[in-house]
Amino acid sequence: MARIDALMSDMTLTEKIGQLVMVTAGTPVTGPVAAGDPTSGVRDGRIGSLLNLFGAGETAAMQTIAVEESRLGIPLFFGFDVVHGHRTVFPIPLGEAAAFDPDLWEATARTAAEEAAADGIDLTFAPMIDVARDPRWGRIAEGPGEDPLVASRMAAAKVRGFQGAALADPRSVAATAKHFAAYGAPAAGRDYASVDISERTLRDVYLPPFAAAVRAGAAAIMPAFNDIAGIPMTAHLPLLRDWLRGELGFRGVLISDYNAIAELLNHGVAADLAEAAALALTAGVDIDMMSPAYEQGLPEALDRGLVSLADIDAAVRRVLVLKERLGLFDAPTGRQQATGAGVASARRERAREAARRSIVLLKNDGGLLPLAAGIARIAVVGPLAEARAEMVGPWWGAGDRATPVTIIEGLRAALPHARIETAATDPDAVVDPAALDLQAADLVVLCLGETAAMSGEAASRADPGIPDDQRALAEAVLASGRPVVVLLSSGRPLIAPWLFERAPCVLATWFLGHQAGHAIADVLTGHADASGRLPVTWPRAVGQIPIHAGERPSGRPANADDPYTSKYLDLPVTPQFPFGHGLSFAAIDIVAVEVGHPAAGDAGGAPWIFRPGEAVDILVRLENRGARGGEETVFVFLRDPVASVARPLLELKDFARIGLAPGDRGVLRFRLGTDAFAFLGPDLAPRTEPGAFEICIGRSADRDALIRTTIRLIA
Ligand code: NOJ
Repeated sequence: MARIDALMSDMTLTEKIGQLVMVTAGTPVTGPVAAGDPTSGVRDGRIGSLLNLFGAGETAAMQTIAVEESRLGIPLFFGFDVVHGHRTVFPIPLGEAAAFDPDLWEATARTAAEEAAADGIDLTFAPMIDVARDPRWGRIAEGPGEDPLVASRMAAAKVRGFQGAALADPRSVAATAKHFAAYGAPAAGRDYASVDISERTLRDVYLPPFAAAVRAGAAAIMPAFNDIAGIPMTAHLPLLRDWLRGELGFRGVLISDYNAIAELLNHGVAADLAEAAALALTAGVDIDMMSPAYEQGLPEALDRGLVSLADIDAAVRRVLVLKERLGLFDAPTGRQQATGAGVASARRERAREAARRSIVLLKNDGGLLPLAAGIARIAVVGPLAEARAEMVGPWWGAGDRATPVTIIEGLRAALPHARIETAATDPDAVVDPAALDLQAADLVVLCLGETAAMSGEAASRADPGIPDDQRALAEAVLASGRPVVVLLSSGRPLIAPWLFERAPCVLATWFLGHQAGHAIADVLTGHADASGRLPVTWPRAVGQIPIHAGERPSGRPANADDPYTSKYLDLPVTPQFPFGHGLSFAAIDIVAVEVGHPAAGDAGGAPWIFRPGEAVDILVRLENRGARGGEETVFVFLRDPVASVARPLLELKDFARIGLAPGDRGVLRFRLGTDAFAFLGPDLAPRTEPGAFEICIGRSADRDALIRTTIRLIA
């Protein structure tokens, strides 16, 4: 700290504010405002960090200017969106979430960190851990889906993967958990729109992933663009200062989103840049990404007494501490000079593994998949069949969009003896179904879905279905009478009840990244099991949104025989597919569930009893009764049927996967501590109430298929 103390006593106000200013340094441009050449600002100490500059040479050259030509020689740090891979593009996070595997989530972040660090990146604007229950919102693609436990585990895994053992390691990058908070719940699914949720939902659903990121040591957090109930997150004193820094003890850096501090004027809570700067700084936002507010507004805010020098100093100190932790004072170009990102073939294999484990087999009537070994002739049709650049999805980082493996390439490589013909079209072209002759094909692979630009930031869709021209194509193909396998490329669950009704076999293949085609072929051929499970409930219609597994029961739960219950006149209340849904090629069944220690159980069959402080052990026995090996994912839900506040119908408490060869049996063990039974009482304070609980075990959140065991907590 002596170095930082010395520097701070030497810095002018302009140099201090400079440390709080982050500007974009070129392409890619990831926001509405672009910047000019940052060199003179770096030289003058008016810029403390850059985003969107990458490449060992490019970043080292800019760093050398900062270190050698600025008055105090303070190094820059370089930030970049490494959302799902850097040079090697992995599946979109929503896809990767479907693997339900924290080790995988950590491993892909590690690889991405190594590649990014070799490119001179010190900090990533990731992980994106926004819970999202609304597929209209395009950014659902970038996050972990609907569940706070999944989001929390993904948050921790990604932070570990990015940051490694120490931030100063030249192969680590600092993680920025984003977007804090509730950005995934905008009104009507419209990106950047207002959020209005209850304090309970905020605390139960949207804050836990950020608590997990902080506990895992996330170096930075990015406040979200949205307001919650009228208070923009960029200026949210109760959540930034009191909860994040106060309750959670977060000591890292808060980096605004792109231009978000100046946008406090648009929100209507600041009259000018000085007020905007003062609001953000007072709430604890240290770095102004790409807005003029801190540079132009802070000096005036200081003059007007809206902020104190102590506030500015505290922010500057946090930024300098981050630079010190990143090792930048001792080795300003340490990352650029380090050994790099390891073996390319290993990274490709990791991308292929992540991609195949992201794929969710939604429907497989008649066991159409895996493909018969001797299949001779396959027709591959649809706009996504050869859509190379689309495979990377909405954030490809520094990845090359010219090199992803297309679906057709993957199939050709996997099935060299089959005749694979294509009637692929440009992703944007209108298809003439009449032009297709499918009769000679043993199988049609129909590649439908979104282009990459249809999801991600600023890509909300009021009607997130399959584009109309593709529907015409699909109808023609389905009418051909040939067996059809549908592949859905998308950044979200696509609403298409007509397709699920008529197509015998459908897979969610999201945007799978560079190895997309190979991964898809791995699963279609049965070389790998279909092991992905939905991290998000798949709606039947837009009218069901928001729909998720954690709804509360209502005083009038849906009842087909009673009109005065909670349902629709024109639609079932059940989703198209529940959270956790996904078919396997194996036939792994849950054969028994044991809750509590059997020895402690009551011989008369009364519920097993436990006391505060005692853990509940759960044992799930499984057996593969099919002819193929495969993998199953088991979910542990809790249901608290009577409490002082209405609790959700299902709360996910744990999940695990098991691989079993044909005929094999296996066991999954879970342990729930008393804290798993706690909830926020009527006063929003945590409490545990004695009484009955149901442990609900299943392969998805389909409530009718869960195995329920009642246990009792006694005081
Ligand atoms: C805006 C996005 O909301 C954020 O996620 C991203 O990190 C920044 N732009 C920088 O690209």
